[in-house]
Amino acid sequence: MTLAAEASSTDSYAAALALLQDRRLVVLTGAGVSTDSGIPDYRSPGSPARQPMTYQQFVSGPRERQRYWARSHLGWRRMGSAVPNAGHRALAAIDPELLITQNVDGLHEQAAPELARSGRIVPLHGRVADVICLSCRTLSPRRALQERMEALNAGWAEAHADVESRPDGDVALEETQDFVVPDCEVCGGILKPDVVFFGENVPKERVARCMEAVDALADTRGEQHEGKGGVLLVAGSSLAVMSGYRFVRRAAKAGTPVVIVNRGATRGDGEATYKLEVGTSEFLTDVAQSRIGGSGRA
Ligand SMILES: NC(=O)c1ccc[n+]([C@@H]2O[C@H](COP(=O)([O-])OP(=O)(O)OC[C@H]3O[C@@H](n4cnc5c(N)ncnc54)[C@H](O)[C@@H]3O)[C@@H](O)[C@H]2O)c1
Ligand SMILES: [Zn+2]
Repeated sequence: MTLAAEASSTDSYAAALALLQDRRLVVLTGAGVSTDSGIPDYRSPGSPARQPMTYQQFVSGPRERQRYWARSHLGWRRMGSAVPNAGHRALAAIDPELLITQNVDGLHEQAAPELARSGRIVPLHGRVADVICLSCRTLSPRRALQERMEALNAGWAEAHADVESRPDGDVALEETQDFVVPDCEVCGGILKPDVVFFGENVPKERVARCMEAVDALADTRGEQHEGKGGVLLVAGSSLAVMSGYRFVRRAAKAGTPVVIVNRGATRGDGEATYKLEVGTSEFLTDVAQSRIGGSGRA
């Protein structure tokens, strides 16, 4: 990096912090905020190309579901042991108007139970901790299903203990024909993790809720806003997936400033007021501190 480039990136770091110090915030996070908790993302430089199972594959037959649940059974044991990092904790202190996450790991909910309780965390793609029956739509905890899978497949996890971990709770495993998949205890239907698979749409009401919060950032009227609009802060996402990128487009179109903190290029770089190529844990910690120390609400 040249001296001038270094100076300008230091300047934008400070300018972004100043902008984020006392504004209303909507935050959009991606897999990058969880890498410091040991959960791999999809698109860090050098990540192997992956093809996660699509919804159409999942519902196409029992073999595919055996493959899915056998791999997920092992992956869950690993993802389940991850704990929130400094970035998740900083977001709890930042206390945004709305925290939209593309992550399915549940770490924001763990780090910010107050925010979760007040309904201000939207897991856009669902959470791997929840299971849904495709027939009767009953929701059940994944932990309970894990116990049923363990009982039905005794010794199976131990026999495959050395397979490699992959993002979003998957593992590299090919031999899955002998894995027994439990059905819905209520109706015998097919169980699926309550996450949005590729080939599925994010539920409309969930998107509408996020859009509303993003649109509200453009509002500067009323005493409580003191003439100031809010900011959309994106942390740790390549924005390659449209379901997240659309919020950046919407904010930029309304003239709402967008700050992106991500190591590596994102699809929203052209729309960003500031783009910072730094670690999310470090940056979010600085944002939290500046809001607590400054005139912010946090
Ligand atoms: N933890 C999870 O729940 C998890 C993990 C992998 C994938 N997914 C799913 O797959 C999709 C992936 O899209 P995405 O945009 O969220 O992730 P992505 O993998 O496309 O992008 C993550 C970005 O974060 C950057 N990054 C990684 N660690 C960072 C750090 N510490 N500081 C700053 N930048 C860092 C990477 O370089 C990359 O550009 C999502 O829709 C999500 O549902 C979820
Ligand atoms: Zn059912």
